[in-house]
Amino acid sequence: MPRFRTLDDLDVANKRVLVRADLNVPVKDGKVTDATRIERLVPTIEALIQKGAKVVVMSHFGRPKGPDPSQSLRPLVEPLSRAIGGRPVHFAPDCIGPQADRVVAALKLGEVALLENLRFHKGEEADDPEFAKALAKLGDAYVDDAFSAAHRAHASIEALAHLLPAAAGKNMQAELEALGAALENPQRPVVALIGGAKVSTKLDLLNNFTGKVDRLAIGGAMANTFLFAQGRPVGRSLCERDLADTARAILAQAEKHGCEIILPMDAVTAEKLEPGVVTRTVGVNAVPPTAMILDVGPETVARIAAALEASRTLVWNGPVGAFETPPFERATVALAKKAAELTRAGKLMSVAGGGDTVAALAMAVVMDQLSYVSTAGGAFLEWLEGRELPGVKALEMT
Ligand code: 3PG
Ligand code: MG
Repeated sequence: MPRFRTLDDLDVANKRVLVRADLNVPVKDGKVTDATRIERLVPTIEALIQKGAKVVVMSHFGRPKGPDPSQSLRPLVEPLSRAIGGRPVHFAPDCIGPQADRVVAALKLGEVALLENLRFHKGEEADDPEFAKALAKLGDAYVDDAFSAAHRAHASIEALAHLLPAAAGKNMQAELEALGAALENPQRPVVALIGGAKVSTKLDLLNNFTGKVDRLAIGGAMANTFLFAQGRPVGRSLCERDLADTARAILAQAEKHGCEIILPMDAVTAEKLEPGVVTRTVGVNAVPPTAMILDVGPETVARIAAALEASRTLVWNGPVGAFETPPFERATVALAKKAAELTRAGKLMSVAGGGDTVAALAMAVVMDQLSYVSTAGGAFLEWLEGRELPGVKALEMT
């Protein structure tokens, strides 16, 4: 992995430090419903405060088309302040210009400011150099702690990193180290567990993985496309029939690279996707024409669990069943528990990420029992695809 500067390489004493955070957290009725991203930001803010910096936090929130009070970052002031031990957070109602200048100029050493939503300005998403310059005026150094937004070449992530002395924050650093340990320099064998609804959203990932991992277990509705491509009956299951050729090509590619593919052997089926419906567990050759495959069956769980036991590293993205509707969470929860157990025993290095995956891990109550759980969705996926992330590239030492 190319080296990037960290907080240790940055001189921040008596300086204003612009911290790009990802405060794009779920909010309902003005309340933060999952504060993970806020909590992960705390070590960076605290380290900067300890080093005697003035901390200026900036982030996007939602996808506003311009200034939009319903997408303000103001409701984040209180949760952020609470997360950093009740320290006051001064809010700037604009992220550039006189209002931002005033709030930042009034900051004392060890104090924290939060700027209004970066996406209220068009220049943010356009990676506009003028907008980046306006942001740069507010700081003497730049820290990017928003791995989950690193796939966006936006001004606060890309252009700005070239205008000030720049470094990765602690969260960014932890993400890069964990992801590097899982795919760039892993302990072998490596097993990947990939699920989710659609093959079409994970084609690049699957193609990248067949050349990188030793075993690739596929679950979720995307496995149906592979089963269909093998000529098996999938009934009324979600299935991208037009991708049968692509699925066969991925299987051939895996064979060429010596990557073992694990597809479902049995399935939990039902006539409809509803909580508590009557289910039937059948072999994958016996899915009734009117049924839908909604989870992998117990034989498949045992086979994947055995693959986890036989591996040293796990990369996990995507649930293996329709986990939001009980009882179709069973296989995903069982595998999450298995991964947690092997990790606790020191037998497995496990890295997981993606919105649904994190929700499934939370359901299995093992969020803190894997080696690393990424807070990133799109960025995690793009990283798994082997793509260069603009926000990571911008931090690389040249
Ligand atoms: C996320 O929540 O995945 C990141 O904050 C990126 O948000 P975006 O998809 O709106 O760019
Ligand atoms: Mg997203």
